[in-house]
Amino acid sequence: MQNGSSRMKAGRVITQVFVLIFFLHGVHAPRPRNYSNIGKPGQKFLSLPVTLNQVGLNQVVVDNGIIRVTFSNPAGLITGIKYNGFNNVLNDKIETRGYWDVVWYEPGQKPQTDFLVGTKFGIVNQTSEHVEISFSRTWNISQRGWVAPLNVDKRYIIRSGVSGVYMYAVLERLKGWPDVDMDQTRIVFKLNTTKFDLMALSDDRQKIMPIEADRDITNGRASPLDYKEAVRLINPQNYILKGQVDDKYMYSMEDKDNKVHGWISTDQGVGFWMITPTNEFRVCGPVKQDLTSHVGPTTLSMFTSVHYVGKDMNTTYTSKEPWKKVFGPVLVYLNSASSHNLLWTDAKRQMVSEVHSWPYDFVKSVDYPLRHQRGTVKGQFFVMDRYKNKTKIFGNFAFVGLAIPGEAGSWQTENKGYQFWTRADEMGMFTIANVRPGNYSLYAWVSGFIGDYKYDRDITITPGREINVGPIVYEPPRDGPTLWEIGVPDRTAAEFYIPDPDPTLLTKLYLKDSNPSFFDSNPSQDCRFRQYGLWDRYSVLYPEKDLIYIAGVSDYKKDWFYAHVIRNDGNETYQLTTWQIKFNLKAVTQTGNYTLRIALAAATTADLLVRVNEDNSTPIFTTGLIGRDNAIARHAIHGLYRLYSINVHGNLLRVGNNTIFLTQDRKTSTLSGVMYDYLRLEGPSGVY
Ligand SMILES: *[C@@H]1O[C@H](CO)[C@@H](O)[C@H](O)[C@H]1NC(C)=O
Ligand SMILES: *[C@@H]1O[C@H](CO)[C@@H](O)[C@H](O)[C@H]1NC(C)=O
Ligand SMILES: *[C@@H]1O[C@H](CO)[C@@H](O)[C@H](O)[C@H]1NC(C)=O
Ligand SMILES: *[C@@H]1O[C@H](CO)[C@@H](O)[C@H](O)[C@H]1NC(C)=O
Ligand SMILES: *[C@@H]1O[C@H](CO)[C@@H](O)[C@H](O)[C@H]1NC(C)=O
Ligand SMILES: *[C@@H]1O[C@H](CO)[C@@H](O)[C@H](O)[C@H]1NC(C)=O
Ligand SMILES: *[C@@H]1O[C@H](CO)[C@@H](O)[C@H](O)[C@H]1NC(C)=O
Ligand SMILES: *[C@@H]1O[C@H](CO)[C@@H](O)[C@H](O)[C@H]1NC(C)=O
Ligand SMILES: *[C@@H]1O[C@H](CO)[C@@H](O)[C@H](O)[C@H]1NC(C)=O
Ligand SMILES: *[C@@H]1O[C@H](CO)[C@@H](O)[C@H](O)[C@H]1NC(C)=O
Repeated sequence: MQNGSSRMKAGRVITQVFVLIFFLHGVHAPRPRNYSNIGKPGQKFLSLPVTLNQVGLNQVVVDNGIIRVTFSNPAGLITGIKYNGFNNVLNDKIETRGYWDVVWYEPGQKPQTDFLVGTKFGIVNQTSEHVEISFSRTWNISQRGWVAPLNVDKRYIIRSGVSGVYMYAVLERLKGWPDVDMDQTRIVFKLNTTKFDLMALSDDRQKIMPIEADRDITNGRASPLDYKEAVRLINPQNYILKGQVDDKYMYSMEDKDNKVHGWISTDQGVGFWMITPTNEFRVCGPVKQDLTSHVGPTTLSMFTSVHYVGKDMNTTYTSKEPWKKVFGPVLVYLNSASSHNLLWTDAKRQMVSEVHSWPYDFVKSVDYPLRHQRGTVKGQFFVMDRYKNKTKIFGNFAFVGLAIPGEAGSWQTENKGYQFWTRADEMGMFTIANVRPGNYSLYAWVSGFIGDYKYDRDITITPGREINVGPIVYEPPRDGPTLWEIGVPDRTAAEFYIPDPDPTLLTKLYLKDSNPSFFDSNPSQDCRFRQYGLWDRYSVLYPEKDLIYIAGVSDYKKDWFYAHVIRNDGNETYQLTTWQIKFNLKAVTQTGNYTLRIALAAATTADLLVRVNEDNSTPIFTTGLIGRDNAIARHAIHGLYRLYSINVHGNLLRVGNNTIFLTQDRKTSTLSGVMYDYLRLEGPSGVY
């Protein structure tokens, strides 16, 4: 509680500063306005009472004087949001425009979508300050096969003075219910198609977007590309988009960065934002990537999905394991201002305020622990790699997190529990606050070193308790001195050569030197990998012979292609590819064991073979068929992390020139391949 209140204070100060900036820049307050309240924490506008009305038999309307939200009753879908001149910001031409859904199937059956339709409406709490309502349903065996075996409680909270609606859901499975796979859990909003035109994901990812009809490949407005999500715009309504590629996966983000995204109506000066104040209910750790907003106009809140991970995450919920989880709350926030910059700035301000208010004190569910019901873990993280430094060094800016007990690194495919992550500071000090009670393992990894850390004991979090694990030391895998290395061990391929896109297949947003144009003027340098079709540039750069890298001579920034893909010979046929690493050894310990470390940043239906010095010898190592993360096709720079440590016996090496051959041995799909994170050859132990 002590910590808690000091954090709250910091949050308030920040909120006030932002409120001030917000007004100095002339952002229009939603109607009705009353500026005399400015400066009071948590109160920006005149706080009118929140009203709740049941309209007819099938509608519930909640209004706080700023927004009016209409729900279908008892289904509990959001059908209308009236705000600032909009009778409905949602697409009023379709029925399902503000909803939850789950993709599920029983083993062996086809996936289907369940909209988590409620059968019972309830008022959880109603005061003039705050209304929380519930749309719930209870599953029973007679619904088997057509309703996902889940008890559902969808909750919505509307607060006085807050320009938005908080939403969360408690999903539950009881013991004995049929086994089920659930591949995806999300919230979807479909906005007014003619009014919302600009999408904003970050300071440098903001773009005037095509409309849904521009993507139609049946009428010449767009042409198909390698898969259905990607199209080339031939005849878009807005000419500045002509010739560009659109694909929703271009707008993906790592969960740790996905705190606010949404759409702007430049015409009406209104913003619609999805604000996610914490990652605790998301899955697979802080660098899991997922969709954000995309053409529609569509805004998502992705809670679970196989995107960028694939079925390496276990989405099966068995009859033996009871399960319950709270997804959210997230905040759908609306604002109004005279320019898109002001709207984006204000959306970020609101996001910061929500992050600082987490965990919320106004959520009325027994399944949602408040601040004083949560615990804290702190400590200091060190790294000891004796061939880099004889003493232990600070694990600076390490990722440190709690997830359900498992093997080191298991968090990256863990999708049923809660995860709590933080970044250590430059001295490796970390505090993981506001952790829900339960049993966890403590995990960590740090850029600059390979592998995954796990604290040797599991940790039990109890309400209000703080656990200090003290100094903890990670000893990354290491057997001998570095003979050569390629890349940086940071779990991405970002440091390698990322080609320019095919000039006929680009997205200006991510172009390095694009001509500044309206709303496309600030292309992100860090996003070059998000272009469509970069994988096919390998065949252009290496039309006949594969990549050869000479240790000590080549530069991985220029000479190591970001993805090891198969070669397109231009005729719809693909060839396996073998890359070579050439290196010179002044001496070889014939009886010694050398170690090749291969860290992969991604893999899709690939099999990597390793040979030493003889191109057609028996491989000394094969990964076997690995990977479904699809990171190459989906414009990412990493998917799942994998580390292989391969013993290379000294008698395979020779004094002078040596070659390691890396063959990507599968062409299951045209997009089969791997991304490397980092490669290193270590000499035998003791040799310096
Ligand atoms: C604004 O709010 C203050 C304090 O709540 C109140 O005294 C004042 O009358 C309000 N002004 C208007 C214009 O509503
Ligand atoms: C969009 O908003 C306009 C004006 O508010 C309205 O006339 C139109 O029907 C809406 N269109 C859709 C698809 O929601
Ligand atoms: C609703 O919330 C208020 C304020 O937290 C509380 O005093 C009241 O008891 C709650 N009512 C119900 C029915 O839970
Ligand atoms: C099971 O669910 C069905 C469909 O909602 C309902 O009609 C039936 O009454 C339920 N049975 C029991 C025992 O609750
Ligand atoms: C997935 O998890 C379930 C339950 O935890 C387990 O029974 C099953 O064996 C797992 N499947 C795989 C492929 O690991
Ligand atoms: C080893 O670590 C110490 C303490 O952090 C630092 O002062 C020293 O420069 C490091 N040495 C090398 C070779 O990195
Ligand atoms: C945590 O682990 C302890 C000891 O293994 C066990 O007794 C307890 O039931 C577990 N608690 C939870 C919430 O799983
Ligand atoms: C592609 O196919 C055409 C027609 O079959 C053939 O002439 C050409 O040589 C092929 N190109 C390659 C690179 O195989
Ligand atoms: C090298 O590795 C092999 C196989 O793991 C092992 O049997 C052998 O003892 C090792 N040799 C040395 C010198 O460590
Ligand atoms: C060894 O490799 C280097 C660099 O590729 C090359 O210049 C040299 O000619 C090679 N030496 C022999 C003996 O092949």
